[in-house]
Amino acid sequence: MKLTLTARPLATQAREAWIVFVQNKKPLFNGHDEMAKRIGSQIKKTGYSGDYAQTLVFQTADGDVILAGLGDSKHFRMEYLERAASAAVRAGKNAGLKNFATVTDAGIGKISDAAFVHAVARGAAMGTYSFDTFKTGGKKRAGELSLTFAGPCENSAACRKALAEAELESKALLSTADLANLPGNEATPQKIFSWAQKMAKENKLAFSVLSKAELKKKGCNAILAVAAGSAQDARIITLKYKGTNPKAKPVVIIGKTITFDSGGISLKPGKGMEWMRYDKSGGMAVLAAMQMVARLKPETPVIGMLAVAENMPGGRATRPGDIVKSHAGKTIEILNTDAEGRLVLADALSLALQHKPAAIVDLATLTGAVVTALGHNAAAVVGNNHKLNATLIKTADAAGERLWELPLWPENMDDMKGTFADLQNMSKSGTAGTSNGAAFLANFVPETIPWAHLDIAGTAWEESSKPWMDPGVTLF
Ligand code: BES
Ligand code: ZN
Ligand code: ZN
Repeated sequence: MKLTLTARPLATQAREAWIVFVQNKKPLFNGHDEMAKRIGSQIKKTGYSGDYAQTLVFQTADGDVILAGLGDSKHFRMEYLERAASAAVRAGKNAGLKNFATVTDAGIGKISDAAFVHAVARGAAMGTYSFDTFKTGGKKRAGELSLTFAGPCENSAACRKALAEAELESKALLSTADLANLPGNEATPQKIFSWAQKMAKENKLAFSVLSKAELKKKGCNAILAVAAGSAQDARIITLKYKGTNPKAKPVVIIGKTITFDSGGISLKPGKGMEWMRYDKSGGMAVLAAMQMVARLKPETPVIGMLAVAENMPGGRATRPGDIVKSHAGKTIEILNTDAEGRLVLADALSLALQHKPAAIVDLATLTGAVVTALGHNAAAVVGNNHKLNATLIKTADAAGERLWELPLWPENMDDMKGTFADLQNMSKSGTAGTSNGAAFLANFVPETIPWAHLDIAGTAWEESSKPWMDPGVTLF
């Protein structure tokens, strides 16, 4: 999508449709009183709710208008704005419209014009996406769509920077989405390896990989146990961004990358198992983030790691009760082969320590329990450092993503101690699944290193059509 900022008045912009945000049932259309009045009467006439991400497309003598609801200001969140922008573009695209314009100074509560432009631009670009790789006659790419922001914002460096960042972010997200949406037969560990290698090269990131033989040599038997039943070998992939301050310690981000999670010998029920193609979402988020980092060039070095494996049953598969020794030297009873995410992460976390990280963040579709606790509205953050958790929650909030802290208590650590080995991969109590999953991981990070685990099992993909997106990966 072509994104532009202009200080020239909106009315003079070439466009097919105006996108107008609606909050508290009122159009946010600063400086366009005549039009706002007309829109107001349209809202009354149609009974349009203005609920968040609800859209309404209608024609006026002045061109088409797409209303995009933000709901009530009392409950406003950045993701509602981003999603409303996506929904507006999708509704417009479905109505055959290609060129959109909106204002930069809608005046939503306390958010700055730059933050507004950032969220709307990224949302609009995401709204152009559809995963049609396997549809005959698909790949009608939306490259020809455009959105013009008209308003005083063009004269602000912060606004121009926000637009450039939104553009760069949506490019990274859209290119990764095409990989992340691939099913298990297509997005194999081998394919993810070659995709990541190519991306690293294009973005001048250092790239390295531990293949099966090297994992064996290093004693990474936890990740190897997960891949044992699969015809596909496990890998741990590392992408490195140097940073502009070579003296700074790196931040390491690690993604669970299970290309398909059948559960292994502890086989999952058949219903809905196809969604386990998205068990690689943590790793996909890391790939998108590393592309952004490479282009934004922050001061801090950032290292991305993907723990890649396919979890399948088979003659060589790991059995419930099997005991393996992890890279860290701790032994693990694998009581449930479906609790495989923590096994691949255990080895990746202890390998990450060699980088002497300032902090570690892992992202994983780790537990069904997080969906029970938080639904699809927020990801859980659990870790060993409240300050890091709080920073992540605040940062995510501003970026339109919800995190919610869950506890990590000594009782959770006890629950993961093994009967015949140091640890077991399933709790004894069968309760507090998300905290207990994190407690298992905590055994592989010294308390002196700030570490946070994001359980994104409820937020990584959508299973039904939403006004702002088709079913598929969210890249949360
Ligand atoms: N990938 C799943 C978690 C999951 C479930 C993600 C549903 C999204 C939706 C994970 O590997 C898993 O199966 N976890 C088990 C752990 C249990 C056996 C301790 C779970 O949550 O049931
Ligand atoms: Zn599993
Ligand atoms: Zn899994």
